[in-house]
Amino acid sequence: MTDAKEFLDRMLSLGLARVSEAAALASARLIGHGDEKAADQAAVNAMREQLNLLDIAGVVVIGEGERDEAPMLFIGEEVGTGNGPAVDIALDPLEGTTLTAKDMPNALTVIAMAPRGSMLHAPDVYMEKLAIGPGFAKDVVTLAMSPTERVLALAAAKGCEASDITVCILERPRHEALIDEVRATGAAIRLITDGDVAGIIHCAESEVTGIDMYMGSGGAPEGVLAAAALKCMGGQMYGQLLFRNDDERARARRAGITDLGRIYSRDELVTKDVIFAATGVTQGSILAGIQREPGWVTTETLLMRSKTGSVRRMTYRSPVK
Ligand code: FBP
Repeated sequence: MTDAKEFLDRMLSLGLARVSEAAALASARLIGHGDEKAADQAAVNAMREQLNLLDIAGVVVIGEGERDEAPMLFIGEEVGTGNGPAVDIALDPLEGTTLTAKDMPNALTVIAMAPRGSMLHAPDVYMEKLAIGPGFAKDVVTLAMSPTERVLALAAAKGCEASDITVCILERPRHEALIDEVRATGAAIRLITDGDVAGIIHCAESEVTGIDMYMGSGGAPEGVLAAAALKCMGGQMYGQLLFRNDDERARARRAGITDLGRIYSRDELVTKDVIFAATGVTQGSILAGIQREPGWVTTETLLMRSKTGSVRRMTYRSPVK
C-alpha cells in the first residue's frame, strides 16, 4: 500500500469510530426504556447520517435487512460520499436491541469496512457458530467435532481440565441439548440472553472475560461481524448457515450463495483486511457502557484494523446537546 493509501485507511478508521459513536450516543436516551424499536431506529438514523459523511463508495452488505423490509441501511444501499475507495460495509447499529431496552449488559453498536467483495453476503438466517481466541493451533476445534470433543480438545490445548473451560452460549430452547452436553463435560457455561457478536469477541480476551469458547446458533449477519472482529484481534471462528425452510434457502441464493452447506472459516467470512469499530451502549465486559452525567455523556469505542493488528480503545466525552 502506498503512503497516501495507508494514510487514507487510517483516517477512514477514525471516521468509522465516529460512526459507531454516533449510533451509540443516539440510543443513549433510550437505554432501559423498554422500547426496542425506538432505540434501534435512533441508532440507525445516526449511523446512516454519519456514514454518509465518509469519503467512501460504500455498499451495505450486512445491514438492517433486505430493501423491502428496511427503509434505511438496507442490503445494497450505497453509503458515503462516493468519493473514495470502493468498500463493503457490514453494520448492526444496535446489536442487542432487547439488552438496550432492558438495560442489560453488552449491547453494542457495530460497523466493519473492507474492500468491495470481501465480506460474505450473509442472508438473515441463522448460522451455527464456533469461536476461540488466539494462540491455538489451526483447527484445534472444528464444527465437525461434537461439543464434547471441542471442550476436551481445547482443554488439552490449554493444558487444563475440562472443568477449567468456560463456554459462552445463547440461552435459547434450541440450545438445550448443547447446554446439557457441554455441562456433562464439566465445563462451565456463561449463558447470554442476546448479543453473540460480543459473546464471540469475549473469546479473544479470555483472560479478561473468562470465556474460552463460543458455541451455538445465532444470526448469520452477526456471524460476519464477529468474524471481522476476530480477524483483527486474533482467534478462530467457523460458521455454517442454517436453513429452516425454502424461503430462507431462496434468500441465500438471492445473496449469491450456491453451496448452502458450506462451512466458512473466519477468513472465508471476511476475506481481506478489515477495519472494525464497536461502541458500548450498555455496560459490558469488553466495553464500558454509555455514561451520562449532568451536561456530559461519555462513550468507549473499540477500533481495530486487521492489517496491523492494532486495537485501540477510545473514550469520547461530549457535552449533551
Ligand atoms: P438484535 O439486536 O437484532 O435484537 O439481535 C440480538 C441477537 O441476540 C444477536 O446477537 C443474535 O445473533 C440473534 O439475536 C439471535 O437470534 P434469536 O433471538 O432469534 O435467537
